[in-house]
Amino acid sequence: MLTFITQNEQETEGLGYKLASFLRYEDAPVILLEGPLAAGKTTFTKGIGKALEITRVINSPSYTIMKEYQSKTSNQHLYHFDLYRLEENNQDYDLEEYLYSEGFKVIEWPSKVPNIVPEQYIKVKVTSISEHKRQIEISCHAPYCTYLEERL
Ligand SMILES: Nc1ncnc2c1ncn2[C@@H]1O[C@H](COP(=O)(O)OP(=O)(O)O)[C@@H](O)[C@H]1O
Ligand SMILES: [Mg+2]
Repeated sequence: MLTFITQNEQETEGLGYKLASFLRYEDAPVILLEGPLAAGKTTFTKGIGKALEITRVINSPSYTIMKEYQSKTSNQHLYHFDLYRLEENNQDYDLEEYLYSEGFKVIEWPSKVPNIVPEQYIKVKVTSISEHKRQIEISCHAPYCTYLEERL
């Protein structure tokens, strides 16, 4: 596991950018984002979006569970899930189908659906230390983890 401290929003976004830029799109990683409200999960996701050359503004999908973003220049997809408002044991939402489709998948509040943790994933835990300071722990569970951890 790697631990980072960020001093402001830009640094958190930058870490998301860095993480995404070291991942191969074809590996289609699932990124699980943990941490309380306003920790910085969506901020981190904005950085991932920039690395994928997504120009649309990424914001918290408050009333939808998932938002899909498509890069016009790189032909890359980002599925951004926010499961915060998902009812427990909600079977209606076919999350699993998305998890195995092509593209980056970022999931805020994965603890809402504990039974669908994919085989390979990267877990990012954001903790607030003070008003602008965040601790970000990244643990990788996939074949490319050594490569990634050496570069982050
Ligand atoms: N170091 C930091 N990293 C990320 N966000 C920060 C940081 N310092 C302050 N903030 C603020 O915290 C809030 C994080 O919001 P957001 O990313 O939407 O959180 P979440 O998605 O976890 O609910 C933003 O208002 C942002 O400006
Ligand atoms: Mg959010």
